[in-house]
Amino acid sequence: MTHILHRQIRHTLPVAVSAHGITITDAAGKTYLDASGGAAVSCVGHGHPAVLAAMHAQIDRVAYAHTSFFTTEVAEQLAEQLVRTAPEGTSHAYFVSGGSEAVEAALKMARQYFVEIGQPQRRHFIARRQSYHGNTLGALAVGGNAWRRRQFAPLLIEVTHVSPCYEYRGLEPGETPEAYGQRLVAELAGAIDRLGGENVIAFVAETVGGATSGALTPVPGYLQGVRELCTRHGILLILDEVMCGMGRTGTLHACAQDGVVPDLLVIAKGLGGGYQPIGAVLAQRPIVEAFAQGSGMFQHGHTYLGHPVACAAALAVQRELHEGGLLARVAPLGQALRQKLVAAFGEHPHVGDIRGRGLFQAIELVADRATKQPFEPAPRLHARIKAEAMARGLMVYPMGGTIDGQQGDHVLLAPPFICTESDLDAIVERLAAAVTAAL
Ligand SMILES: Cc1ncc(COP(=O)(O)O)c(C=O)c1O
Repeated sequence: MTHILHRQIRHTLPVAVSAHGITITDAAGKTYLDASGGAAVSCVGHGHPAVLAAMHAQIDRVAYAHTSFFTTEVAEQLAEQLVRTAPEGTSHAYFVSGGSEAVEAALKMARQYFVEIGQPQRRHFIARRQSYHGNTLGALAVGGNAWRRRQFAPLLIEVTHVSPCYEYRGLEPGETPEAYGQRLVAELAGAIDRLGGENVIAFVAETVGGATSGALTPVPGYLQGVRELCTRHGILLILDEVMCGMGRTGTLHACAQDGVVPDLLVIAKGLGGGYQPIGAVLAQRPIVEAFAQGSGMFQHGHTYLGHPVACAAALAVQRELHEGGLLARVAPLGQALRQKLVAAFGEHPHVGDIRGRGLFQAIELVADRATKQPFEPAPRLHARIKAEAMARGLMVYPMGGTIDGQQGDHVLLAPPFICTESDLDAIVERLAAAVTAAL
């Protein structure tokens, strides 16, 4: 009998007792290959000695000091490291304890910026359908996952949602990806015009869409078009890289591959690599300067801002990514993963699309490849695949509602950057068996 209110009350979970490298072992002695990094979290793998040592050392030095009284060396060093490697113009990092908190902070930072610079009439956010930005009320409101939002809708701030960049389903016959991207930019322009450009605070988007629709990559030129449009209207661009950032797609920040610099860049998950809960907002200089010259503060805060042990873990993870060479492994391993997925599923009658970047790849399942007809939602194919994968000692991240919050199924893969090609072979082999068993 458990006294934890688990995510699923009627399910019984295995008990994790140890975790090393890319595996987790349960109390029954069964070992699972972590092909999803949990939820795209474990980037340097489990039980990494350098990260554990950094955390131990920090606990012995200062385990906690409230940020209204003190700063700490480790938080300062992490901020310096993140700003040095951030997109051009980034000047400050704001540390919180996870992705949803980071998104909330970014939304408030964006709003306060306009109050500080004398544009308090700006009060609208625009975001995309089929996105996920977190489960707290502000983050849930900008998120576009219809299922997650539905019962909480009366509590959510009003947000305008536009189409996701979903090439597999959005591209019209004969349309080039570039033209599709510009069509989406025009749709966003229409939404801005309807609200009045002078009333919009920010456009919020995941650079590469993650949990809701599975590794949706932006088509060429799309994010650049979005950036130009936002700049033209003085609207901030908030890119949420909680899932796709911190090296997951092959560059430290996914937006580097699109040649786009957001005003606020939101990171978490891989920042702490699962060793500690930590997220951050990386802010461009003009935003922080507006605060500095205005009220002199960011009117926000939590008890665990800049937690020293979390910062120590994140700093050690950064060292492994850069000096330890793990970041450089992602692009070639990602290509290998893609090839293996294509070999296993490229001709599969029920896999309509294989997509993603780096070690962030997904397959979308369809009842009919020719028509792209999804499976009926009720039999919950995604949940069956997860169960079959777990039975085979494989952790993947499947989800339903890929298309509209109700229909569609996909499986997301996000293995740790320490994995080898033979690990990828095992992952794809077990996934193929799980898909076959679930269908
Ligand atoms: C893109 C994105 N933003 C925000 C979040 C929320 O992060 P957290 O679960 O750490 O609150 C997630 C979590 O999956 C995410 O994928």
